[in-house]
Amino acid sequence: MKPLIAPSILSADFSNLAKDIEMLNRSEADWIHADVMDGVFVPNISFGFPVLEQVVKLTHKPLDVHLMIVNPEKFIPEVKALGAHTMNVHFEACTHLHRVVQQIREAGMEPAVTINPATPVSFLSDIIRDVYMVLVMSVNPGFGGQKFIEHTIVKIQELRELIACTGSKALIEVDGGVNAETGARLVAAGADVLVAGSAIFGNENPELMIHKLKNS
Ligand code: DX5
Ligand code: ZN
Repeated sequence: MKPLIAPSILSADFSNLAKDIEMLNRSEADWIHADVMDGVFVPNISFGFPVLEQVVKLTHKPLDVHLMIVNPEKFIPEVKALGAHTMNVHFEACTHLHRVVQQIREAGMEPAVTINPATPVSFLSDIIRDVYMVLVMSVNPGFGGQKFIEHTIVKIQELRELIACTGSKALIEVDGGVNAETGARLVAAGADVLVAGSAIFGNENPELMIHKLKNS
């Protein structure tokens, strides 16, 4: 099975976002990955709902919203209003994760749980049957262009085993430092969805890069 490709617009050209979205529309990208940061959960601020409202006007590709914010449940109505396909909340940001996952599903979106590099896969054992997807961070969240953390490969294998032994149907998404080389190894380890920012938008032929990742 070919992986799904979710380009992260964090690395797009914000002075001409429409041009980059048009490129993604023409490309083999499956989803558009949107990184929302609050300067509290992560040490950076990216963009918010006014920007994403413009993005969704320019594309029919499903929106994969990755909220790197505290209290993400407060923004379920706003994410829903965007027409988002998936809403990713961080395990580390939700005291009542089970409730948040149910609320996202009740709002009509696919719930995804994101784990930071230092959060063990085993912490997901009681929520894995309830989620559409797990997003494994392969860098510490907050910035594009960081170096891939090698231990992620082991975590993908562990997550694949947890999914198999619990009968969960969760997809495995990976985010951070994904390029042609790490992407191929992640897919071999069991990843279903590759997020990539700088590897795509920093490439002189981003469409070709998406094609390469798709054929990882
Ligand atoms: C990091 C974000 C990523 C980021 C990935 O906090 O969640 O989605 O855009 O960027 P690259 O692919 O450049 O590591
Ligand atoms: Zn992300």
